[in-house]
Amino acid sequence: MFNQDMPYRPMGRSGLKLSALGLGGWTTYGASVKDEDTVESIIRHAYQAGINFFDISDIYEKGEAEKAMGRVLGTLPRHELVISTKCFWPMSDDVNDTGLSRKHIFESIEKSLRRIGTDYVDLYFCHRPDPTTPIEETVGAMSDLVRQGKVLYWGTSEHSGAQLKAAAAAAREGHACAPRVEQPQLSLVARHRFHTDVQPAAEELGMGLVTWSPLASGLLSGKYDDGLPEGARLWRSENLRNTYLTADNRQRVRQFKALADEAGVSRAQLALAWCLAQKGVSSVITGATRLEQLQHNLGALKVAITPELNRRLDELFPPGLGRKL
Ligand SMILES: NC(=O)c1ccc[n+]([C@@H]2O[C@H](COP(=O)([O-])OP(=O)(O)OC[C@H]3O[C@@H](n4cnc5c(N)ncnc54)[C@H](OP(=O)(O)O)[C@@H]3O)[C@@H](O)[C@H]2O)c1
Repeated sequence: MFNQDMPYRPMGRSGLKLSALGLGGWTTYGASVKDEDTVESIIRHAYQAGINFFDISDIYEKGEAEKAMGRVLGTLPRHELVISTKCFWPMSDDVNDTGLSRKHIFESIEKSLRRIGTDYVDLYFCHRPDPTTPIEETVGAMSDLVRQGKVLYWGTSEHSGAQLKAAAAAAREGHACAPRVEQPQLSLVARHRFHTDVQPAAEELGMGLVTWSPLASGLLSGKYDDGLPEGARLWRSENLRNTYLTADNRQRVRQFKALADEAGVSRAQLALAWCLAQKGVSSVITGATRLEQLQHNLGALKVAITPELNRRLDELFPPGLGRKL
């Protein structure tokens, strides 16, 4: 895949190149977006715009996102795509259908490959750390999947810097394949942990970083300025509403409009451009429930974050925002 309008970035110190913007399926495809034609039009447009990285998980609508995205991805040239999925969260109440044990990892990859309709995934993530499984067991199982060719690179998500280092050390000691990519949260309102812990560790280990929820589930677009638009994500999810729609965030996002207006772009584009400009980011995974959102968000690739703009963004969204370690 090559598209002159899309930058491609190396995934850390690996040879793999990822489109600077990726597209993910959390809460959308097979969930809030059930219409197959809409899913197809969004994914096809992403591909035509040069997006090669598509991110899924087994837990997204309990396998339905893998099926919905897999149906469309299966019509595109497989060798051009970087498809990722994940395991960890319970898929049933079976005691072993959860976590990062060798058994769950081996069972999960087979089910994910079948649902997506592919022989291998390019990236396979441990969706969260599993305190009940020794890290050596998880590293050994993931490494074996790489050696079997079912997974090309394995990675982690929402792991701390110390956990990334522990996984790398276990791989070294066990002569196993180390994780090559971490998937952390990063947005203007969730930035502290990324900058103070995850990014420095990933850089030291040569791991790529593919970041999630760049618009804070849509909040940073400004769509919640005047209330809760029916059908929008924070209207649908009370949990996410409580996380993101705080008085503080609402105030900041309103003030953010003036900055974006001055820069001649939308808030969504500026929020995405800021993520793209952060050190160590290999790809920013976006989400879209409508084709127009994706088309609009792709405009972020043309937005430059000047030092002055960066300073003012830091003032409005201070580096301490977001979850602490
Ligand atoms: N590893 C993890 O634990 C983890 C966690 C979360 C996400 N992820 C990955 O990251 C991907 C992206 O996360 P995300 O979906 O939360 O990203 P996001 O960009 O923060 O939110 C995307 C949502 O915002 C709304 N939106 C997008 N563009 C808009 C625009 N221009 N104007 C107004 N509203 C807009 C849409 O929701 P509505 O139209 O429904 O309002 C869209 O579905 C996920 O799909 C998943 O692959 C990973």
